[in-house]
Amino acid sequence: MKRILSCMQPTSHLHLGNYLGALKNWVKLQDEGAECFYGVVDLHAITASYDPEQLKDATREIAAAYIAGGVNPYNSALFVQSAVPGHSQMMWLLATMSQMGKLERMTQYKDKAGKDKERAGLGLFAYPVLMAADILLYKATHVPVGEDQKQHLELAREIAATFNTRHKVDHFVQPEPYIMGGATRVMSLRDGSQKMSKSAESDLSRINLTDDADTIAKKIKKAKTDPEPLPDNVKDLEGRPEALNLVTIYASLADKSREKVLKQFAGKSFSDFKPALSELAVSKLAPITSRMNELMNDKAEIDRILAKGAERANAVAAPVLQETMDIMGFWKK
Ligand code: TYM
Repeated sequence: MKRILSCMQPTSHLHLGNYLGALKNWVKLQDEGAECFYGVVDLHAITASYDPEQLKDATREIAAAYIAGGVNPYNSALFVQSAVPGHSQMMWLLATMSQMGKLERMTQYKDKAGKDKERAGLGLFAYPVLMAADILLYKATHVPVGEDQKQHLELAREIAATFNTRHKVDHFVQPEPYIMGGATRVMSLRDGSQKMSKSAESDLSRINLTDDADTIAKKIKKAKTDPEPLPDNVKDLEGRPEALNLVTIYASLADKSREKVLKQFAGKSFSDFKPALSELAVSKLAPITSRMNELMNDKAEIDRILAKGAERANAVAAPVLQETMDIMGFWKK
């Protein structure tokens, strides 16, 4: 039986990259009958500067986006990381078997810490260890994420192996990264060499799940492209990262292959393609946005769902934490 776990940070509104690279696949796995745990990782979110006044609502908004995007909270366990104490407890245990050298090589840490490593927080440095704890705490077999999380997943696998070898046990499961679908790395609408991200300065670089139809259309209209018409095959998009990105987004939203999309639009210019992409994006995202808004108007209901989810998550996590501590030789009452 597959056990799926994945999470997102309540750092800002979710964007199209989060949706196509992760959430859409989460729903697919859930609908295929896997046992799923989907978390809102607020402990990760505080590794960057944040506003304590907004953290609760940001957390609820991510939960609302999961549900609006198709996660069924009666089926999948939908929880907040800080509400399941095992996450931070497991993190400490795993921190004792994580190598600083490896953490220093994490590209996300290098990007986020920037030039001034002296001032980077310990939390930012240890971010991947907390992520390993999230996964190993549930003995998750598969972790559906976008491509940018591959290196962190690799580290989680190494930490699991280190634990098992050190204690001569077969305790932790090796989690498999699930990097699914055609849009595993959605790029910025302003620069095809940068991934679409919550932290990019220009809001025009991303489509947020909270954007209304006019904003989506405006962003696609302003998206960077090139003067060439669309070719009839993917190979001819080489060296045209912005064009490739828009075609990839179209294909993923339409659940078609890029080849099929190019057959449909071969020879067409972006002045024809962009309106079609806008129409498709609005038709797929508007129902999600409106459902999210509806849910956010009933915060008590979201809180009920999250409380239930934390209970379900904890029922799996607490015994794994205890077993881990037993193997490590801790005293217990
Ligand atoms: P976060 O919130 O930064 O990203 C959430 C998910 O969205 C994917 N993603 C993308 N996919 C395609 N194209 C993009 N431009 C793009 N941008 C983001 C990410 O790969 C991710 O799947 N560290 C994790 C959160 C986390 C986690 C975990 C994930 C904490 N613990 C345990 C899995 C399992 C993160 O990047 O979140």
